[in-house]
Amino acid sequence: MVYFDNAATSQTPQQVIDVIVDYYTNYNANIHRGVHTLSQEATDKYEQARQTIQRHFNAKYVHEVIFTSGTTHSINLVANGFSALLEKGDEIIVSALEHHSNIVPWQMLCERTGAILKVIPMNQHGELEMDAYDALLSENTKLVFVNHISNALGTINPIKHIIDNAHQIGAAVLIDGAQACPHIKPDLQDLNVDFYVASAHKICGPTGVGILYGKEEWLNKLPPYQGGGEMIAEVTFEKTTYAGLPHKFEAGTPNICGGIAFGAALNYMNAIGFEAIADYENELLDYGTEKLSEIEGLKIYGTSKNKTSVISFNLEGIHPYDVGSILDKLGIAVRTGHHCAQPIMNYFNIPGTVRASFAFYNTKTEIDTLVEGVRKAKMMLS
Ligand code: ALA
Repeated sequence: MVYFDNAATSQTPQQVIDVIVDYYTNYNANIHRGVHTLSQEATDKYEQARQTIQRHFNAKYVHEVIFTSGTTHSINLVANGFSALLEKGDEIIVSALEHHSNIVPWQMLCERTGAILKVIPMNQHGELEMDAYDALLSENTKLVFVNHISNALGTINPIKHIIDNAHQIGAAVLIDGAQACPHIKPDLQDLNVDFYVASAHKICGPTGVGILYGKEEWLNKLPPYQGGGEMIAEVTFEKTTYAGLPHKFEAGTPNICGGIAFGAALNYMNAIGFEAIADYENELLDYGTEKLSEIEGLKIYGTSKNKTSVISFNLEGIHPYDVGSILDKLGIAVRTGHHCAQPIMNYFNIPGTVRASFAFYNTKTEIDTLVEGVRKAKMMLS
């Protein structure tokens, strides 16, 4: 089996699986609620994981880390909160390179508020046009939201430029870090970003858990997203007051084990080291690009010099689904289709691509197997 669908979800190391088993075997209990020992132990481990995440991302305060069910939940939380902060005619800016989860919640926000959605265009290499971005910024701009790395093409976006220039005109910035976090360790204070969102399952953690990082001042401005237990200070039928950060945004029993395992996954990745990971994955990217490019009729989409280990491609005249199906029969897992990024596919006027996304545990030998598989698929389908 060759697993090249890491941009969809990463494989889970034994060290993280052990933490999950340990939780359910030894201290499964609800948190923040009980005086009993098990509950205390689960609470301590969960809050330690929050600290691990704070340190990893270099957030200023631990209460700026909100546990969510993942990136999509985090974005919806912020988009919902901005309903209270936007007025008709306000402008919000997205990029042409986004995953649907960083488009649709904002379109819903525009429907609710009358705000206007503007789009940063991209070029043939799959890079965002920064001159066009700067021209879109105005006194009406309230919020900019782009991904750190494109899930469909692998482009690493110039987020420092995006953040700094938005701040110059007083707009806030949300960065979708779902695809960046497996490859890059972002320093959120250095980036000076207002919101950053990510999912554990792309970084060797479990599914169903992620984070919203928000600067304290912004999290205080946003209203709660969901009502329920844990997010309150006091409840009466006349009036409810809300808990402080981070609990204001954490209604209900959370994914306790998931949060703890997220911390363990970050420890695992940090023990390997993000510089070593990036160096090795770049080597895989260069090797894979070179070898796949040798196949006649194969076109790679996403040719920015600044990209991560994702290769999106098509064989001339052959549907990506057919290529993906044959690769699957050969024991090679890739993703095919529009990758939840239909505007990118529309830009290139294609139904989708075959996407091979590499992680630090992949090898050049596996890439050779992919290249051989693509050659076979081409022969069978031409
Ligand atoms: N967003 C994930 C991907 O790109 C699921 O495959």
